[in-house]
Amino acid sequence: MADKKPAILSVDGKEIELPVLTPTAGPDCVDIRKLYGQGDVFTYDPGFTSTAACDSAITYIDGDKGELWYRGYPIEQLAQDSHYLEVCYLLLYGELPNKDQLADFETRVTRHTMVHEQMNNFFRGFRRDAHPMATMVGVVGAMSAFYHDSTDINDPWQREVAAIRLIAKVPTIAAMAYKYSIGQPFVYPRNDLDYASNFLHMCFAVPAEEYKVNPAIARAMDRIFTLHADHEQNASTSTVRLAGSSGANPFACIAAGIACLWGPAHGGANQAALEMLKEIGTVDRIPEYIARAKDKNDSFKLMGFGHRVYKNFDPRAKVMKQSADEVLELLGIHNNPTLQVAKELERIALEDEYFIEKKLYPNVDFYSGIILSAIGFPTSMFTPIFALSRTVGWISQWKEMLSDPQSKIGRPRQLYVGETKRDYVPVSDR
Ligand code: CMC
Repeated sequence: MADKKPAILSVDGKEIELPVLTPTAGPDCVDIRKLYGQGDVFTYDPGFTSTAACDSAITYIDGDKGELWYRGYPIEQLAQDSHYLEVCYLLLYGELPNKDQLADFETRVTRHTMVHEQMNNFFRGFRRDAHPMATMVGVVGAMSAFYHDSTDINDPWQREVAAIRLIAKVPTIAAMAYKYSIGQPFVYPRNDLDYASNFLHMCFAVPAEEYKVNPAIARAMDRIFTLHADHEQNASTSTVRLAGSSGANPFACIAAGIACLWGPAHGGANQAALEMLKEIGTVDRIPEYIARAKDKNDSFKLMGFGHRVYKNFDPRAKVMKQSADEVLELLGIHNNPTLQVAKELERIALEDEYFIEKKLYPNVDFYSGIILSAIGFPTSMFTPIFALSRTVGWISQWKEMLSDPQSKIGRPRQLYVGETKRDYVPVSDR
């Protein structure tokens, strides 16, 4: 990969040559791995704004152009023409499956959707008012206590089985967390339903009556899964990689990813965005919130706006906005006040100098909540749905890391700003 002239870094009068690596797309990377050894200096990059922590062939984002590709395929094409399980195959194995490969993959996932019956007891240990994300962190982590035969990370077959189990069972766990929180009985998975329909069925069916999944709603749900399936080295994916770099088992790593996703700056933004839109309530109150978002002394941010990488627009948000229109139309929800506020907020923000200058655009979380809420999910389920969609991305990245011979335990360094060495003083003398 090092086919460019090396970069020269001068440290204390000493010149250090650093190889420059050229990716298949995106900016070159200066390889600083030998920097400490040669120059006795670290680099300093809080929040990793300029640091590539790994090579990856899975997902590519061009933040300036607003492009997102899974294995080279643009997200718009996959959202329009593919479906989630095909996208899962693509992310996991690198190529689109042929008919037989797809059928085999779908069967393998479908046959793993049930969870160990004893896990039901595990749920009952949680308070009913627990946030479903709290329950998911615990229960997904607990999978390592139930599926011992897929925790040996050095065995490629066990890694494969763990991947399939996670893609298959996390929706079941998310649905169980929801059912538990509303005091309804768990609904077992149904193998005759497709992935999205099965999830909707597990969430909304009750034993007392038949529940028919609306295929158009299932298609919208499937598209939400696809749009969230992977997103390069974001905070939760980096968390999964970091946890996995120590050799932790896959279930523990994905639980770590779920914990990181929960925060409002990351996956928790979908819940926060809808809550904000509802709090704004009517379009006449938008200027007040725009003013707050711009006020340096106010910590308020427009939730669902801005992104570390996208500085043009988030291509997922475009698809999501169109999907929101379609779903509301389908459900006969006209003049939805939240959608009206969202559209007007977007319009005003995109014309405002502050947002233009800082390149702040709506992200994937801005419109997803409107769709999920119209389908019938409470806001507390938005982030669990993000987590179940992202599981395939996390596990693909984890597998890629384990098969990379260059991969090492993740161990950042620091710029120490604490006290220098000093002597202990007994409490009587302090
Ligand atoms: N509203 C108002 N101002 C904002 C916003 C916003 N949503 N986002 C960023 N800014 C300002 C920020 O205050 C900063 O201003 P200044 O330069 O004057 O200090 C500037 O824009 C740059 O922002 P930053 O926070 O340094 O950028 P970042 O790359 O560290 O953060 C972000 C990116 C997504 C965490 C941030 O934009 C944000 O908190 N957005 C709201 C939460 C959100 O929607 N998160 C979902 C992200 S997409 C889905 C996912 O990946 O999970």
